[in-house]
Amino acid sequence: MSQLPLVRPATATDAPACAEIYAPYVTDTCISFEAEPPVPLSSARESPTHKESHEWLVAERDAAIVGYAYAHGFHIRAAYRWSCETSIYLAMDRRSEGIGRALYEVLLARLTERGYRRAFACIALPNHASIGLHRAFGFEDAGSFRRVGWKYGAWHDVAWLQRTCNLMKSTHRHPSWLRCLSNQRIGA
Ligand SMILES: CC(C)(COP(=O)(O)OP(=O)(O)OC[C@H]1O[C@@H](n2cnc3c(N)ncnc32)[C@H](O)[C@@H]1OP(=O)(O)O)[C@@H](O)C(=O)NCCC(=O)NCCS
Repeated sequence: MSQLPLVRPATATDAPACAEIYAPYVTDTCISFEAEPPVPLSSARESPTHKESHEWLVAERDAAIVGYAYAHGFHIRAAYRWSCETSIYLAMDRRSEGIGRALYEVLLARLTERGYRRAFACIALPNHASIGLHRAFGFEDAGSFRRVGWKYGAWHDVAWLQRTCNLMKSTHRHPSWLRCLSNQRIGA
């Protein structure tokens, strides 16, 4: 079995490596619906606010970044604040080595610690590896949009999967990054 990677919080200096991993999924596949690879510094994933409120992790092996996973808010409106959307990308030649599992184990644990209750994943179909990874972590079908994305001469369906992060007794404490704000500001 391959050596497991080091999973750690990303820093700004990891942005070019993450952009390099992501680019071929944009240019060569329908896994990403983007048309042009984003410039690293303009991406939301590099925003300090984003890291403060959610998570952005990288997997490192032999001093090289081989994948990343992150979460961002599910929707801007206040009632959605316990929900987040996750995503994950590995270097193409590093798939099926357990790196996706290693990243998601840490990502989902940290989101749970932060107080998120629901994690959602949006997956352009077909994508057996991503569906398999999410199911392996307990994500369940939440619905699908049919023929919603057009890329490379074909329509693609998108599946939404969801997972409950904290199976313990339900509370409505705000996710940790919001606790510093007044109830009035976040519309509680
Ligand atoms: C999806 C992805 C992150 C999975 O990571 P990975 O390192 O390849 O997966 P792992 O080897 O850690 O396997 C984890 C689980 O995923 C599932 N899985 C992985 N590859 C699979 C495949 N080709 N088909 C079906 N299930 C698969 C397995 O059930 C596995 O479960 P197990 O650990 O209990 O055996 C990776 O393949 C990837 O980067 N794909 C391209 C980008 C992408 O699709 N991102 C998601 C966008 S929604």
